[in-house]
Amino acid sequence: MVAVAILAAGKGTRMKSDLPKVLHDLGGKSAIARVIESAAGLSVDRWLVIVGHRGDWVRSSLADLPLVEFVEQTEQRGTGHAVQQLLPHLADYEGDLLVLNGDVPLLRSSTLEALLATHRKHQNAATILTAQLPDPKGYGRVFCDQNLLVQEIVEDRDCNPQQRQNQRINAGIYCFRWPALAAILPQLKNDNSQGEYYLTDVIRDLQPVMAIDVADPEEIWGFNDRLQLAAACTVLQRRTKEHWLRSGVTLIDPNSITIDETVTIGPDVTIEPQTHLRGQTTIGAGARIGPGSLIENATIGAGSTVLYSVVVDSAIGPQNQVGPFAHVRGHAETGADCRLGNFVELKKAQLGNSTKVSHLSYLGDATLGNQVNVGAGTITANYDGVNKHHTTIGDRSKTGANSVLVAPITVGCDATIAAGSTITEDVPDDTLAIGRARQTTKPGWRLGSATVAITTPATDPTTETTP
Ligand code: UD1
Ligand code: CA
Repeated sequence: MVAVAILAAGKGTRMKSDLPKVLHDLGGKSAIARVIESAAGLSVDRWLVIVGHRGDWVRSSLADLPLVEFVEQTEQRGTGHAVQQLLPHLADYEGDLLVLNGDVPLLRSSTLEALLATHRKHQNAATILTAQLPDPKGYGRVFCDQNLLVQEIVEDRDCNPQQRQNQRINAGIYCFRWPALAAILPQLKNDNSQGEYYLTDVIRDLQPVMAIDVADPEEIWGFNDRLQLAAACTVLQRRTKEHWLRSGVTLIDPNSITIDETVTIGPDVTIEPQTHLRGQTTIGAGARIGPGSLIENATIGAGSTVLYSVVVDSAIGPQNQVGPFAHVRGHAETGADCRLGNFVELKKAQLGNSTKVSHLSYLGDATLGNQVNVGAGTITANYDGVNKHHTTIGDRSKTGANSVLVAPITVGCDATIAAGSTITEDVPDDTLAIGRARQTTKPGWRLGSATVAITTPATDPTTETTP
């Protein structure tokens, strides 16, 4: 039997943030979500999250995990005090308790599996995850013999200068035989420099306690401030990019690219510099994204290119050409072989196949068929100041440059709209609609004089000589 307890009640004062520390984001997921994920591979019988500071925020961030039980630590009086709060919840529990710190987000599940296996094999009272760090500053130091049997853990600020030299640190990840821990938890004292109840103090009273060093010390990096958070994010980014590079994705100048772990990328995709892929995003095989693009909660179809553009909450079909400088948002969708050119904005618009919107357009709340050609500067006037209205354009229709389609409006199939038209009435199939003022040209007119002799030849300014 394994119960997992995650310490997540602390404020994280050193973060200087309104948000509780464990809710800070690393590559698209909160620290606490990552910690839970790291143990998700084990067969866990109980999940307990200890919450306190802004506990309701932490609870609601985990609302989609119905198996999690929340344990309230009203006052944050130390990690030992936090674990004491479990006593009434695990009164009859006889199994092992895996304790994870909510601010140690880079753990691999294989490491936790190894911790649990060692713990069981040696029938330890406790097994703790340790690492040897060249710069152990800030961490509790672990003192053990050659067989890795632990005598005690001393917090950095409670160390004497000689103890501080010890480079083996406590990762804050422990496996306890719960009945052994439960028996001594009530006796914890707070006679240390912080006046807190330290979980690490139980080690002196348990036997045997064994340390296991992690192979990759990066895994147990905790973060207490934003510098350490940024360093942890860099580690995650590197892991994610290595994964995609190994899976057949080309990243040009990887350091300038960020990719959330929640993103899926097909083979032979090229990601160009300064491109950011976030949230629930999927990039189809052979697509080329960037330079300079942001794709968030979006799907990009196979073989499409997205150049210097922003695509959010939308789906681009296969073999599309997007950008430079297009903005696709708010559940827009395109079919195959579409083109969205420079300064084109799509919002809640659906385009059929091979529809082209090449320059300077806004299409909002619109449905366009196949092979529609949207002329430069076409605007759907979708908002009357109170409500949004829909525009529909049928297959193979064309809008002339600078057309305004005042919604609600329907343009049929194979219709043409003349350049500069303001269309306020539906346009049936196979028609030409012209909605613009007729041009008046006044011959013999020049600024400053009422009339000029019509016979005066126009002067060519390039040949005019100055007197
Ligand atoms: C802790 C360990 C230290 C270890 C380090 C690893 C103790 C006394 N020290 O130190 O040996 O090297 O982690 O990262 O345990 N929390 C609560 N309630 C509280 C206090 C803290 O839930 O009353 C939670 C925090 O939200 C955090 C975790 O416990 O997720 C660790 O607390 P923190 O104050 O960051 O401990 P460290 O000083 O880092
Ligand atoms: Ca910490």
